[in-house]
Amino acid sequence: MSLESHMAIIFGATGDLAKRKLIPSFYRLLERQQMGKGTAILCLGRKHYSKSHYLERLELNDFIDQPEEPLLRQLTEMIHYRSFDLKDGTAAELESIVREVRSQTNCGDNTLFYLALPTTVFGTVSAIIAPLIDEQGWKRVVFEKPFGSDLSSARKLNRQISTVLDEEQIYRVDHYLGKELVQNILFLRFANEIFSCGWNRGAIDSVQITVSESLGVEERAAYYDKSGAIRDMLQNHLLQLLCFTAMEPPVSGYGNAVRDEAVKVMTALRAPTFDDVVTGQYISSSAESGQVRPYRSEEGVPQDSATETYVAVRVFVETPRWYGTPFYLRTGKRLDRRYAEIKVIFKEQEIDGLATLDTPNMIIIRIQPDEGIAIAFNVRKPGESHTSETVLMDFCHHCHFGPNTPEAYEAILASVIGGDPLLFTRWDWLQESWSYIDRLKAVASPVVFYEAGTRGPREADLLLQHDGRSWL
Ligand code: BG6
Repeated sequence: MSLESHMAIIFGATGDLAKRKLIPSFYRLLERQQMGKGTAILCLGRKHYSKSHYLERLELNDFIDQPEEPLLRQLTEMIHYRSFDLKDGTAAELESIVREVRSQTNCGDNTLFYLALPTTVFGTVSAIIAPLIDEQGWKRVVFEKPFGSDLSSARKLNRQISTVLDEEQIYRVDHYLGKELVQNILFLRFANEIFSCGWNRGAIDSVQITVSESLGVEERAAYYDKSGAIRDMLQNHLLQLLCFTAMEPPVSGYGNAVRDEAVKVMTALRAPTFDDVVTGQYISSSAESGQVRPYRSEEGVPQDSATETYVAVRVFVETPRWYGTPFYLRTGKRLDRRYAEIKVIFKEQEIDGLATLDTPNMIIIRIQPDEGIAIAFNVRKPGESHTSETVLMDFCHHCHFGPNTPEAYEAILASVIGGDPLLFTRWDWLQESWSYIDRLKAVASPVVFYEAGTRGPREADLLLQHDGRSWL
């Protein structure tokens, strides 16, 4: 990992992402000695704050778990706050701020730009940073999701930023790729012959990819109601999980080799039809405890909103490895619990006298919480010679590696600093994903309603069954 110094410029530094994720992640990188000593963090926001007021607002002691005083001091010395309004701020003004901060530090010319901002201003910011991009040193620009809202807006956006940036300088974040167990999918599959040899339609019956959330839209209704679960979660996080699960072995484990294979999965997706997808929206829970408001009564949501807060979709990857094997992807808000996992369900063996199996073999990749990998398999039940029982072999990530596994955003920042594109979405992948999403939205029926605190709409249960059985 590179320890070159650099300047990290955060646009939107007074927002939640900076406070909750970015600044705490910089602290951890400092702790792990993954950041050059002279690094400067230039935080830009519209408001006129003094540095001390900005630091107070960051609430470092609340958002960094058990910080150490000397490291915290080092971090706060690295942070500089300046007011910069995108509405009337010019490239020349930004340049002068950057030069002033550079002259006070030893950060050098390498620059990481982090756009913690809505997609609508990506073009404006790219134009403003253009003169700085042409300077010496590496320049890497991080774009938060969503990148566009459909294929045509994503293309337009990409055209705008590509007039200033080369693809190698663009880092489109999908924070799911920074999650430890997601990165582990490639290791599980390609560093273990025991798993890779049966990873195909011959042995596998179906795959379930689930990201279930118990929270609702919280304070993000303005964004979420225009987006919905399909654009907010499926287009990026779930489709990336699908690609990691379904891709062919890459020629190496590095950035473009892996991303080449991910793109091939996307181009092999069968066109969705209306019976491949169910969308839902939550209403109040009828349970006595845990009453929640229906989505349409959440603050900022129109009373007649047709936005989906849930989506389940059946996907077919039409490659020789997967032909005919369904992948079931589902995600939703206000479901019964928060978890993300990939369940690979194997075909059943039936040999008379050896087993009447109730449960097929499964590999379960628990992305969160309780990160780990479990294998369900069948053993002979003691004393009952012709009966089997399903048992679990369970690898618990933090039991083995300890509790300090890097958070997704730490992995993301470390990768940008090290110039490693593996965890970021390449333009050709993004294009394919929007193209699939546009087709899916065109065939999806209107939302059906589901009670908050449940597993989602009943209609989805039917879709998620394979051969009349469900392994959720
Ligand atoms: C974000 C979505 O990308 O991912 C949110 O915009 C969602 O709506 C979040 O809640 C889920 O991320 P995590 O890491 O909490 O599973």
